[in-house]
Amino acid sequence: MSASDTFLTLGIETSCDETSVAVLRGEAELLANSVYSQVDLHATYGGVVPEVASRNHVVKLPYLVAETCASIGVPLSEISLIAATYGPGLVGPLLVGLTHGKGLARGLDVPFIGVNHLEGHIFAHRISEPDAEPPFMALVVSGGHTSLIDVPVYGRYQLVGMTVDDAAGEALDKIGKMMGIGYPAGAEIDRLAEIGDPKTVRFPRPMIGSPGFDFSFSGLKTAVVYHLKKNPRERQEDIAASVLASVVEILTKKSIEAARRFHRKRLVITGGVAANSHLRRALAEEGGERGIQVSFPPLSLCTDNAAMIAAVGAFRHLQMGESHPLSLRPQPSLGLGNTAE
Ligand code: KG4
Ligand code: ZN
Repeated sequence: MSASDTFLTLGIETSCDETSVAVLRGEAELLANSVYSQVDLHATYGGVVPEVASRNHVVKLPYLVAETCASIGVPLSEISLIAATYGPGLVGPLLVGLTHGKGLARGLDVPFIGVNHLEGHIFAHRISEPDAEPPFMALVVSGGHTSLIDVPVYGRYQLVGMTVDDAAGEALDKIGKMMGIGYPAGAEIDRLAEIGDPKTVRFPRPMIGSPGFDFSFSGLKTAVVYHLKKNPRERQEDIAASVLASVVEILTKKSIEAARRFHRKRLVITGGVAANSHLRRALAEEGGERGIQVSFPPLSLCTDNAAMIAAVGAFRHLQMGESHPLSLRPQPSLGLGNTAE
């Protein structure tokens, strides 16, 4: 038995509206991953209210830590490392998880490490496919992010492109609101699009032909507003299918092109929007034609979760000898990697 077989990392994620706690053995063996989603609490407001999120993390987190450890029969005293997200995200929610994590590390007298949430999304792939090592191109696509990140090895990143305005999931949520769909709207748009005609409206594909790999989705949102004003009787299914046709074409084209430009044979798609069935089909088909293997971690690891945070913490601590002082502050605008020229 190697030392890492008994090394247990407790991960904490509270950067937005999911409270999550996970326990990982070694670098990639997931023992528990509990997620409490606050989505219903925010639905009435049509988006995440930071103060409501912070308050609920405070209430839920200590119970979730106790419940998660109890569910696998691991007492807190056996934990070797505490890993908590320190950015990017909402400052109040980040502060709750970070402070709780530091308190646990102090009380248990174990090292503490702050984790970059975006690196976490990439590490979802390490848990689901531990043998499919980098290099690969990663697309992190959620309500908060749309970023293409080249991963030559774990721990080294190059930001290849990102959204210049709304994230793809954010645009879908805003469009859904205009269509009268509840928050968040991505999954419902996905479902409606299954029975709609994507050729009903040709919505714009902003920046699809622009050089580089940046994205833009706010123009699409504006085009949908005008269309809905002029055509209030259009079927929701057809609007959903037409909107997704635009989003899926943009994400697919840019991701495959980025993988090709960087000579990567694998593309990893992660974040909440990676649940989209149309995106999955389009990328699998396009990747197959271009000789690029497309990987999607399971949904429970794509949406915000603490397993991916624990995986980064364990890797950085065990392989790179990293830990952070308890003075580490939350960094709401934390980035990942250098920008490509
Ligand atoms: O990763 P996530 O749970 O939270 C962050 O934003 O970090 O992603 C949530 C986003 C929301 O915008 C939601 O509408 C979108 O993911 N989403 C989807 C689907 N399921 C969730 N978008 C498109 N199709 C889906 N099936
Ligand atoms: Zn996220």
